[in-house]
Amino acid sequence: MAFPQSFMDELLARCDIADVVGSYVQLTRKGSNLFGLCPFHSENTASFSVSTDKQIYYCFGCKKGGGVVNFIMEEEGLSFPEAVQFLAKRAGLEVPEEDGNREAGRRRARLLELNRDAARFYHQLLQQPEGRAVQDYLNRRQIRKAVATRFGMGASLDAWDTLLTAMTKKGYTKAELLDAGLVVQNKNGGLYDKFRNRLMLPVIDTRGDVVAFGSRVLDKSEPKYMNSSETPVYSKRRVLYGLNLAKKTKRPNIILCEGNLDIVTLHQAGFDNAVASMGTALTVEQTRLLSRFTKELVLCYDNDNAGKIATERALQLLNGAEFTVKVLQLPKRLVDGQYVKQDADDFIKFQGSDAFERLLNGSENGVEFRMAQVAARYDLTDDQARVAYSEEISDLLASLPNAVEREIYTTRAAGTAKIAPEAMKLEVQRAFKRHLARKKRAELRKDLNPASQLQPKERTLRYENIRSARAEEGVLRLLLLDESLFPASRPLEESQFSSPLLGRVFGLLWQAREDGRPVSLAALAGVLSPEEMSHITAVCQQPESAQNGGRALADYIRVIQKENCTDAGKDPLLAATEKYKDKKGTGGKQHG
Ligand code: CTP
Ligand code: MN
Repeated sequence: MAFPQSFMDELLARCDIADVVGSYVQLTRKGSNLFGLCPFHSENTASFSVSTDKQIYYCFGCKKGGGVVNFIMEEEGLSFPEAVQFLAKRAGLEVPEEDGNREAGRRRARLLELNRDAARFYHQLLQQPEGRAVQDYLNRRQIRKAVATRFGMGASLDAWDTLLTAMTKKGYTKAELLDAGLVVQNKNGGLYDKFRNRLMLPVIDTRGDVVAFGSRVLDKSEPKYMNSSETPVYSKRRVLYGLNLAKKTKRPNIILCEGNLDIVTLHQAGFDNAVASMGTALTVEQTRLLSRFTKELVLCYDNDNAGKIATERALQLLNGAEFTVKVLQLPKRLVDGQYVKQDADDFIKFQGSDAFERLLNGSENGVEFRMAQVAARYDLTDDQARVAYSEEISDLLASLPNAVEREIYTTRAAGTAKIAPEAMKLEVQRAFKRHLARKKRAELRKDLNPASQLQPKERTLRYENIRSARAEEGVLRLLLLDESLFPASRPLEESQFSSPLLGRVFGLLWQAREDGRPVSLAALAGVLSPEEMSHITAVCQQPESAQNGGRALADYIRVIQKENCTDAGKDPLLAATEKYKDKKGTGGKQHG
């Protein structure tokens, strides 16, 4: 990173965490903290807290935490320098240019420029005689010229270096072309075009930048689709194909499909609210992106088994999220006496857009979809099966967070199973109690096992000496709570900490103090990883009283010194038992 320290201090002073977080999350005061629904995971009860004193946020549910810069990194999907730029702009502060930083920014800008030039080049080829094969393919798929243009479609030719030559002529270097994933290198170091003889589908983000390419072959060969690899400007988890257009829709919802060309066909048919996750499972990042543009999602995955699994997974991801979720189920199509799957593209082609509009209006909600899935597994004319169905469906109903929903769908399930609603209600109540009991047991288990609870969530940060680590945490907590507790001279070296991370943080806090800068957690965002930051925030979140702080600090320091004394000063008896423990450890391993 390396923004000047004085600039960072100024930035943090100007960006109050409650202010910044408050523009994304509705916060309510509870005691000394503010609480709201966590933007980083789905939940119904507020476990996301913001402390204005400490200028940190922490979610007790997903255990993410940090300062204001971390929040923006996570929420906007930005790197540290990008998040700093973002906040500086918000606060009206000028960012002092820094070499490495300017360099990274320039590199990104250059890649985006290259992608745009490549997209233009492919698009031009499509209009020319060389692009005839791709244009024929578009005609076969009944994609109109204007729609192809709206999506910026293009043609790559059946040759090894068309793009390579054209872009090199424009001044792009080989390194840049490789970086963008537009050319690949063979064993001998020679370069050739990655995309050849394909329909080119630029992936455009919501800012209008061409961040990547999808592409399709023109015949039945494999791979059918080929997409850009991840690059400094493209992370497939964070992009949805077609959202650059769908974000402007006047329709009340956004339709999620699997395939690129489904989107094209839907837009052509007037459904300009369709987007695709390009064949991968929906991600949390994508749902966050979508939440900026809509409150209602319609899942429209293929009506085969894989599509059903994808739907179920998406519903789980969206369970309890702020969206209303519906499922649009495409019917199968009868071909020569056989039912075959069809996707949105097929459906529009064979049944037309009015039929699709009707499906869209009649989409069932997520619960209805899941209930139908369960019902389909049982032969409800059979008594035994009806009993089994009731049990399974009760479990599903009991997991619904909303009591009104539970009630409505319990009645419906009773109808399906042809049993009295009262009987079904009892069954659901019993399942609900089982759920609660299970949850309580899990919590109790966690409470009874403090050692595992104290461990950082991230495996690589695991503590080796819990007793010492607890004291080390205490030291950090106290120093952050009350700066006046800093001893006049340095009581501990970083190397005396059993946890390298806690030692490092101690060193950083001490340095800030010596430099006369504010001692704050938020200032560490540039040097700690988000996982490390989350852990340190969790540590500071635990209760600690500044009363008698001096005494507590001295106690903690004593524990650390005792637990981590060097071999020379070590109690010989203790050293001996440790050796013995070591031997036993290895012996056990050999036998096991
Ligand atoms: N996909 C991919 N790589 C593949 C196959 C598929 O990235 N080898 C992605 C593409 O984004 C594709 C989506 O998964 O659009 C759905 O794939 P599939 O159902 O196989 O294709 P369709 O979208 O139906 O493609 P088409 O109609 O062009 O045959
Ligand atoms: Mn298709």
